Amino acid sequence: MAKEKEIVVSGIRPTGYLHLGNYFGAIRNYVRMQEEFNCYFFVADWHSLTTHPDPKDLQGNVMRVLAENIASGLDPEKVSLYVQSDIKEIAELYLLMNNLAYMGELEKVPTFKDKVRQQPDNVNAGLLTYPVLMSVDILIQRAVKVPVGKDQGQHLEMARNFAQRFNRRYGQLFPEPEAFNYGDSLVRIASLDGNGKMSKSENEMATIYLADDDEKIRKKISKAKTDSGNGEPGAPMPESVQNLIELMKLVSTADVVKFYEDAWTNQNIRFGDMKKQLGEDMVKFITPIREKAAALQQDKDFLRKIMKAGAEKARANAAQTLQQAQKLIGINYY
Ligand code: TYM
Repeated sequence: MAKEKEIVVSGIRPTGYLHLGNYFGAIRNYVRMQEEFNCYFFVADWHSLTTHPDPKDLQGNVMRVLAENIASGLDPEKVSLYVQSDIKEIAELYLLMNNLAYMGELEKVPTFKDKVRQQPDNVNAGLLTYPVLMSVDILIQRAVKVPVGKDQGQHLEMARNFAQRFNRRYGQLFPEPEAFNYGDSLVRIASLDGNGKMSKSENEMATIYLADDDEKIRKKISKAKTDSGNGEPGAPMPESVQNLIELMKLVSTADVVKFYEDAWTNQNIRFGDMKKQLGEDMVKFITPIREKAAALQQDKDFLRKIMKAGAEKARANAAQTLQQAQKLIGINYY
């Protein structure tokens, strides 16, 4: 009998336009993984509710994330592509799992602490238990690999803890999932202004979105932070220049990257030229994705068909896990 393919799960919140961080941290891996694994990829709409998005924006955001995933190369025939809220089993397992999650550990999660700082007037229970819901997204499909960017590493550690805790208390059910990236380590795409990482909702001019038009891409890159000069001989490359080189490695050819790395070493780097080159290479990379995503978004019925078919497969698998969890806990009365 053929060996069963390992299960993969990952999700993206529909909280804004997808950007290079989402692409290179997550989606690029999805596209490769769909050839080798049994993949479940979803739009995390329940997760987006912690920040109270305007109800009239939600549907458009969900559709765009679906379209951008497909435009990036995901094949809905090969993976199960769905929306989280279509899998009601997640909500029930979340309720069950919340009893194994402790206030102390949830309050210590860095993403929770960040949110408390950013939105002190809206520290809701959904924010606190966010890592429990995320763990359940993964565990309910019995996934072992979770392609995510570096910012999600801590959440994966919690998913492993919850899996272990459940298995110890009630009996073996969940495999322990690992964060996954095809390179050696998880990816973090820095923001163009040198302040933190690219993000869907912050610093728009410092984030390149998959929906940005050519002029916007060129403009954002031309304004990216760089060092003012060539630095002392042998000086290490400042982070701002390194960030641009990292972006080049993603979208430019190897000889272009080498040319600018050598230019830095030889102290004759011209940042204007470098940004122009990166701008053009980025435009070439993003244009086909943007155009395909825009076309797909015109066809809402097609997207609905995909999300429905994806949900059917994801629900069937989730229902089996939930049933086993109920049984192990003792909720089986008939
Ligand atoms: P979200 O929606 O913030 O981001 C989606 C994916 O993009 C990655 N990412 C980045 N990677 C590198 N550099 C960046 N600047 C960058 N910004 C974002 C994220 O790491 C993520 O992989 N909690 C998750 C959504 C989620 C989930 C899940 C993921 C809910 N349930 C289950 C995996 C499994 C989140 O907020 O991702």
